[in-house]
Amino acid sequence: MEKIVVGITGASGTVLAVRFLENLKDLEVHLIISESARKVMSVETDYSLDYIRSLATYVYNDNDIAARISSGSFLFSTFVIIPCSSSTLAKIASGISDTLITRVATVALKERRKFIIVPREMPLSTIMLENMLKLSRDNVIVSPAIPGYYHKPSTMDDLINFIVARILDLSGVKNSLSSRWRDA
Ligand SMILES: Cc1cc2nc3c(=O)[nH]c(=O)nc-3n(C[C@H](O)[C@H](O)[C@H](O)COP(=O)(O)O)c2cc1C
Repeated sequence: MEKIVVGITGASGTVLAVRFLENLKDLEVHLIISESARKVMSVETDYSLDYIRSLATYVYNDNDIAARISSGSFLFSTFVIIPCSSSTLAKIASGISDTLITRVATVALKERRKFIIVPREMPLSTIMLENMLKLSRDNVIVSPAIPGYYHKPSTMDDLINFIVARILDLSGVKNSLSSRWRDA
């Protein structure tokens, strides 16, 4: 079964990670949740940590840098950080691997694996933009948590599904979460 690694960091938008995980049913999902992400999810959602953990096949502590997914010998197809904080973005762009999430990022870069980050911040500083450019030049797909409006969203769910559908598409996961432009 195809293996995907998902990192949740302490940027706003835990709900995006939850919706993404809910749509990975046919994959072996390896999940890492940062300490800050736990705090943010309790502030902005009613999801329990147990529910979020139940959406993954394997769950790791972000301080477990010896976990099996920390090695380049662990073959995963895609790494997605959703949402990705500016702090984690900066660490990865600087080559710092002091947590399991940033270590897997370093592995994804050196092994040239598919790597998608979903930053959530507004406005963006020059440092953040430079960090994104640096990662984009290293083939990371930088897909910010920005919805479109041409599908005429009327609920928050519509906005969440629009963003998550694009990340699922980029990850190669079939989905019909959101209508496509000019779909019959
Ligand atoms: C409620 C809340 C919302 C936050 N939202 C964001 C955000 O949208 N983007 C961001 O980059 N950081 C945000 N932060 C700050 C990060 O959580 C903080 O920088 C943290 O150190 C990131 O750690 P991590 O990358 O290891 O998860 C938020 C913090 C809190 C408490």
